[in-house]
Order: sequence, then structure tokens, then C-alpha cells
Amino acid sequence: MKKTVLIEAPAKVNLYLKVFRKREDGYHDLVSLMQMVGLYDSLTFRAERSGIRLEQTDPSLPSDRSNLVIRAAEALQKSAFPDGATSPGVAIKLVKQIPIAAGLGGGSSDAAATLVGLNRLWSLGWSRRRLAELGATLGSDVPFFLYGPTAWVSGRGEAVEKSSPVAEGWVVLLNPGIAVSTAAVYQALSRKLGLTKNKPKISINRFLAQRPSATKIFRSPYNDLEKVTLGAHPELIRLKQELQARGGEAVLMSGSGPTLFARFESYAAAKQAAAAFEGRGSLRVWVARILKRSPI
Ligand code: C5P
Repeated sequence: MKKTVLIEAPAKVNLYLKVFRKREDGYHDLVSLMQMVGLYDSLTFRAERSGIRLEQTDPSLPSDRSNLVIRAAEALQKSAFPDGATSPGVAIKLVKQIPIAAGLGGGSSDAAATLVGLNRLWSLGWSRRRLAELGATLGSDVPFFLYGPTAWVSGRGEAVEKSSPVAEGWVVLLNPGIAVSTAAVYQALSRKLGLTKNKPKISINRFLAQRPSATKIFRSPYNDLEKVTLGAHPELIRLKQELQARGGEAVLMSGSGPTLFARFESYAAAKQAAAAFEGRGSLRVWVARILKRSPI
């Protein structure tokens, strides 16, 4: 058995996100194009005789069962060793860099990395598909992180179709230091659009068959959830305009926000644009590569 496993869990951005309808289970059916970017949390898994222990750098995150890393580890341990007496343990160290409640999928990425890390540490031999099925019970974005770096997702987010990477280059990420609740954003969007549990006007399958090409998406990226989050935080609209004015392409809010991103062709151009936003109070700024290979 391997003694330690290290995984770098990347952030994601949504280049496209369209919400179709509210479902019976309270979730929303959507279609999204997701792309991993090179801003990472780091997870180290060390074999222990028993138990699941988490050490982490971010004091604002819970260290108990409500932490997605612990939930992922427990779910895998329970499934793989239904007879608890024989189950191996792990000590996990999580170093956070991806901001929390930011629309960058950090928690989901950590959960996916935990499933993959423990699959290796405990030599379980589970397939990606099996890990993704378990991952979907932990969070809608978890399966994507098992099939990155680029994929279309649909349904609640759990139906993943790998895509070739959409573009090379770099993104500037801007986070105004506000935490946004994904659940609250979806609820507000439902109210705003009058989404019902009825059949959507356009079916998801028809949409997927006629979905825009990556090139078209880069020309006019789209995110339904901007309607809610930008409405609540108008300073984000000004930041988007400024990103555009500084040469950013595909300027958009990621997921339920509030993080904004913009693509730049070269590292130098991204760095130059990022520098203009640095030192502005609580605004956080990163330059990250658009990943061509998944580190998970
Ligand atoms: O699946 P996850 O726990 O990441 O989702 C967080 C919340 O976002 C859900 O509880 C739900 O309110 C909302 N959501 C949704 N439709 C989705 C994904 C998330 O309504 N497709």
C-alpha cells in the first residue's frame, strides 16, 4: 500500500451556463461548459491504521462532517469497506488557495481529489465512472472534476461529456471577497425567471444537439446566474467592464459567483491586466493557466 499521495485540486470556470427549469428535487436542470484553471488547493493523503482525520490551513472551513473532504472520505470508506472493522484510515492535509463560496468549485474539486487520492492510497481500483457516481451524491460539480480539464455538463451537473480544451492561454480571476451562497442564487433566479417544475420550453437534448461551438462561446460567453449575483453586487458590473477595457476576452462571472474571469492570450498580457486590479481593498487577483490536462 502506498504511504502518501499528493493531489493538486484545480479551480474551474464556467464559460457557459444556462438554467432550464426547476426540478422536483429542488435542484435546477442546466447546461454548462466547464474548464479547469491553474489555481490549486493541495491535498496530501497519508495512510493510517484507522479513522479519517483532516488538518487544514483555512480556519473558516469546518473540520467536522460538514466539510466536503471528510464527507467524500467517509462515503468512499463506507462504500469500499462495508464491514467497518477492516477499513483502513487516512490523515488528510488540505492547503486552501481557492476562495470559498466563490463560484470556482473549490469544495467540489477537493472532494473529487479526495476520492481519487483515497482510491490510490487504499488501492481500491475503482473506475472513474464509479467514483463519479459516488461524487454526484456529494455535490453537483464533483463529477466534472473527475473528467476535466474541459467538459459539457447537464442535468443537475452530474451528466458529464468530455470536450477538447476550448482555448489556450491564461485567465485573470477577480474575487471581491464576498461569499455567495449557490443555493440562494438558484432560488433567486427561479423566482426572477418564474421557472416552474413544468417541461422547459426548449428541451435540454435539443439544446445540446445545437449547442454553440467553443469559438462562438468565446465571442459571447453566457451565464444565467449573472442576472442574480451582478444585480445584487453592481460593483461586479464595473469590474467586468474594466476587465474588457483592459483587453480581456470572454469576460464572465463563474458559476454562482462572485468571481469574474477574463481570458488573455499570453501570460504577460494577463499579468499586466491583473496588476491594474491589485491593491484595491478586499479585491483578490490571480493569474491562472487554462489547463490542457487534469491534475486530478
Ligand atoms: O450540488 P451542490 O450541493 O453543489 O449544490 C448547492 C446548491 O445549489 C443546491 O443545494 C441547490 O440549491 C443549488 N443547485 C441547484 N441546481 C443545480 C446545482 C445546484 O439548484 N443544478
